[in-house]
Amino acid sequence: MILNGLIDMMTRLIRAPEDGGATFWMPPQSSTMAGEVDWLFNLILWISVFFFVLIVVVMLVFVVKYRRREGWETAEASTSPNTLLEITWTGIPLALVVVIFFFGFKSYLNMSTPPANAYEIQVSGQKWNWSFTYPNGYVDQNLHVPANRPVELIMTSVDVIHSLYVPAFRIKMDLVPGRYSKTWFEATRPGEYNIFCAEYCGTAHSDMSAMVIVHPSGEFEPWMEKASNFLLTMTPEEGGRKVYEIRGCQQCHSVDGGPRTGPTLFKLFGKEEKLTDGSTVVVDENYIRESLLEPNAKVVAGFEAVMPTYQGRLKDDEILALIAYIKSLDGKTGEE
Ligand code: CUA
Repeated sequence: MILNGLIDMMTRLIRAPEDGGATFWMPPQSSTMAGEVDWLFNLILWISVFFFVLIVVVMLVFVVKYRRREGWETAEASTSPNTLLEITWTGIPLALVVVIFFFGFKSYLNMSTPPANAYEIQVSGQKWNWSFTYPNGYVDQNLHVPANRPVELIMTSVDVIHSLYVPAFRIKMDLVPGRYSKTWFEATRPGEYNIFCAEYCGTAHSDMSAMVIVHPSGEFEPWMEKASNFLLTMTPEEGGRKVYEIRGCQQCHSVDGGPRTGPTLFKLFGKEEKLTDGSTVVVDENYIRESLLEPNAKVVAGFEAVMPTYQGRLKDDEILALIAYIKSLDGKTGEE
């Protein structure tokens, strides 16, 4: 039983091709880069396993063989160096690290040089959500991409350092405030994959996740067309709900009364809120607008001033839609 499990695990360590190249600890290989990265990972892994086993076995043998026994004398230090042995134990590790460096550097160059025809998407990280801006200005909280086409991500952060990590694509790149970093990939299999933040960025770091949605060839453009025009085709409440979902509001503001990093939006409109400075404010259109553009001007008591500004990042019609959505969360309109 244990043996079967072990054999199964060993097999999966090597490769399970029916699962898109997923192994015991690797998700399916879903980008053109993934095979290369896994190959190098496995090379380093098996070299390490080989030497680990070798060293431990030799160590155990020596421990038994040369243990202290009655009548055995302490060996004398050798005075003649064994040149051949020294060249061997220097030469083999040197050759190994040169090989690892060569393939590692080659992959690194591939990864940091996007093809000239890549589809460009701007990525912005902030505590604690991602936003992806497409060439036509559309913003989404998930990364939608076409399959089999190189996609370049031009990334920056609004506040602290974040790191965009897509395990299935084997890419990870930091987002640094005040400068742009780049990475690229070409997705090979339509489907949905996790995006994680791989740099500790505060309380809700581990919630800072999103999805990559890889659309099959030919389905990306129609999706883009439909998604970009959502405010024209929806009621203000529906549109506001969509803005709430795609612009990351939901990471911090619940709509069911539950506490999160920020106050809930449930029954918020018209409510009198106590502020951190002791004064009060009635939540109306102007307060919502101000809280979006200058979030730290009037912070509700019991919460921290951690909300980033949406100045220049939300259009007027999006703010209006959000206000309409917040108004609809009165516990009566059906939508809770
Ligand atoms: Cu963003 Cu961790």
